[in-house]
Parts: sequence; C-alpha cells; structure tokens
Amino acid sequence: MALSASFSKPTAHINCYTSSQNSIVSSPSFLKNLKFPRFWPWQKVKIGPLNVSPMGFGTWAWGNQLLWGYQESMDDELQQTFNLAVENGINLFDTADSYGTGKLNGQSEKLLGKFIREFQGNKQVQGNIVIATKFAAYPWRLTPNQFVNACRTSLDRMQLEQIGIGQLHWSTANYAPLQERALWDGLVAMYDKGLVRAVGVSNYGPKQLIKVHDYLKARGVPLCSAQVQFSLLSMGEDQMEIKNICDSLGIQLISYSPLGLGMLTGKYTPSNLPSGPRGLLFRQILPGLEPLLNSLREIAQKRNKTIPQVAINWCICKGTIPIPGVKSIKQAEENLGALGWQLTPNELLQLEYAALESPRKMIQNIFQTS
Ligand SMILES: NC(=O)c1ccc[n+]([C@@H]2O[C@H](COP(=O)([O-])OP(=O)(O)OC[C@H]3O[C@@H](n4cnc5c(N)ncnc54)[C@H](OP(=O)(O)O)[C@@H]3O)[C@@H](O)[C@H]2O)c1
Repeated sequence: MALSASFSKPTAHINCYTSSQNSIVSSPSFLKNLKFPRFWPWQKVKIGPLNVSPMGFGTWAWGNQLLWGYQESMDDELQQTFNLAVENGINLFDTADSYGTGKLNGQSEKLLGKFIREFQGNKQVQGNIVIATKFAAYPWRLTPNQFVNACRTSLDRMQLEQIGIGQLHWSTANYAPLQERALWDGLVAMYDKGLVRAVGVSNYGPKQLIKVHDYLKARGVPLCSAQVQFSLLSMGEDQMEIKNICDSLGIQLISYSPLGLGMLTGKYTPSNLPSGPRGLLFRQILPGLEPLLNSLREIAQKRNKTIPQVAINWCICKGTIPIPGVKSIKQAEENLGALGWQLTPNELLQLEYAALESPRKMIQNIFQTS
C-alpha cells in the first residue's frame, strides 16, 4: 500500500502555545490544584453550533462489566475523573444509550447526567458541557418516532433538557436497508423538536456518509459530526477518505478508540494481556506492533511526553477530535497532557511509517458501512 494513497498529508490542526506542556501528573505538588490552560479558547473546535475542546472523553467503560470490568464501586473515582476533565477545559463527553451491560444498561448516560448536576465548579463551565450520545439502531426501532422516544429516554436518564449531539450509533444499510430511512428521519425529528442541538452519525463509511449528509441537508438539517474508529492502528484508506469527505462537507470527524482499546498505551504486551475479550483481540494484534510502539516510545521520550499522549496527539494533528476512554483520575490526568503541543510533520510521518510496518491492524466495527 503506497503511503500517499492511505494518508493525507500531515497537517497541523491546532496551534501550540508551548512545547513544554507536560501532563499534570508530573507537576510539583504545590501546583497540583492549579488549572493550567490546556488550550486557548480560540483552539476550541466547532461542531455545528457547538464549541468543544480539541479532545473529548469517551465513557463506554462506565457501566460495562463485560469488556471493561466496571464495578459500581468505581463511581466515586469516575465522578472525580469527570470533574478533573471539566476543570481542565474538557467539555465533550461521548456516550450511548446502549452503554452499560445487563441491568446496568444506560449507566454511562446516568452517570454523566449525575456528574453534570453535581459539578461544583463554575456554572458557565457546567452549562457548556456537551454530551454526544448515540442512539442504537435496534431492529425494533422502525419508525422516526421510536428514535424520538429513544432520545427522550436518554434525556430522562441524564435529566437534561437538551442533548448536545444526537448521533446514530450505526447504519443499517448493510443488513436492513429499509430501516435506514427511519434512522435518518428520526434524526430530523429530534432536531426539529429541539431535543438535540446538533446531529451526527457513527460508523458510516464514505458512500453512506455522503448519502445521509445529502438527505439531511435536503430536510434542512446540517450533519455536524461523523464518528469512526481512527487511530495509528486504524488509518486505512477508508478512514482517510472519510476525513476528506468530512473536510469538504464541513463535518467534524470524531475519532473513537484513539488508543486502540489500550494497545497504544504501551502497558500491554503479548505476555501481559488484559482479561476478558480484549485479551483475545490483543493476542492477535500485539505481536508485530513493536515498530509502532517503539516509535511512539522514542518520540514520547524525546518530547518528554508519554506513549498515550503521543498517540492521542497524532489524532489531533490529523484534524480529528479524539475521545479516549478514561477509567481513572490517573488516566484522565495523563491524557490531558495530549493537549497544548503538537507533533512535528516528521514525527507524524515516522509514526505512520511505523504503523505501516506493523502487520495487523484493529478489526473494524462490524457495523461500519462502505
Ligand atoms: N461509535 C462507536 O461505535 C464506538 C466504538 C468504540 C468506542 N467509542 C467511543 O470512543 C471512546 C474511546 O474508545 P475506547 O474506549 O473504545 O478505546 P480507547 O480510547 O482506545 O482506549 C481506552 C482504554 O485505554 C485505557 N487507557 C486510557 N487512557 C490510558 C492511559 N493514559 N494509560 C493507560 N491506559 C489508558 C483504559 O482501559 P484499561 O485501563 O482497562 O486498559 C481505557 O478504557 C469510548 O469510550 C466510546 O465513547 C465509540
């Protein structure tokens, strides 16, 4: 695969204000409670009418026992993690109405609603928090009104009056094309009723993205965001084509799993795998990931950053908004250090060549369309 065919030219997306910005993990203790600006206000990114931080946080793990080992005893720390993020300028949080396993279904939305309500800091900051939730294309959601009801259920769970970004979690084009129109009309209805400030899609490939954009446009609804798996482990031709389409249509690309579910943190190895289904996946991919992990490590050391910070920064430099999942204060602190600096064009190329040398990539979401 020729490099030029699969990568867009590395571009700087965000102006850095200092190259020595480190994770607050390493701040001296007397500075611990000071909130350094992670980015300047003008570096916020537009998603339709919304201004969001150049990175958001993902909350799939908040309520998911099966894949992420969630326990309700983690809630206090998750709340502190949320507060720390908001106090440091993060105002975008991604969730979904299907997040939370078994009886914990909806837990991620519930927790986010609670954390917003109980946020003790500046009221204006609290008011600027943007929740991006995703509505599952369950087979029983066959009419636009069922999507409106799904939206109302999410609003009830979060106890909010309006959702920032209402997103379709996936397209049914691959297996139930007739349902697709109900999904799109559902987005239109939510928007027209003022239940969501902006609409987006997720797991839409290039063709389907253009179709939904054109359909919504004809109905007077701007498509504001497209969320796809996008990382140094998931940067194939489709991702780059989606990015180009987004740029030409004024859609913001949100990159999910920017840390490759944890593989791009450097903490997992073939002999140190996470438990559960992730272990099975990592076992397939981690052997052979050495060139990429070495490159991430080398750049991290040179720049006085950490591996996850470099991996997330790559997504930002590609002009996307990464939404790394966070499960602890420590992870949030570290990931905040992905902001406020940028990789050089040479470093971007070095990482991308190293990624190409790594034989196995992330498997794509089964719902991802062409
Ligand atoms: N639209 C969709 O279909 C879709 C699909 C997937 C995800 N998403 C969204 O994207 C978000 C992010 O993706 P993701 O959660 O799948 O994967 P990710 O962001 O690539 O990886 C997140 C995981 O990596 C580990 N981690 C994070 N920061 C770390 C750090 N600094 N040091 C060490 N470990 C760290 C944590 O797990 P451990 O500590 O357990 O290793 C964390 O849960 C999700 O939360 C969700 O909101 C959307």
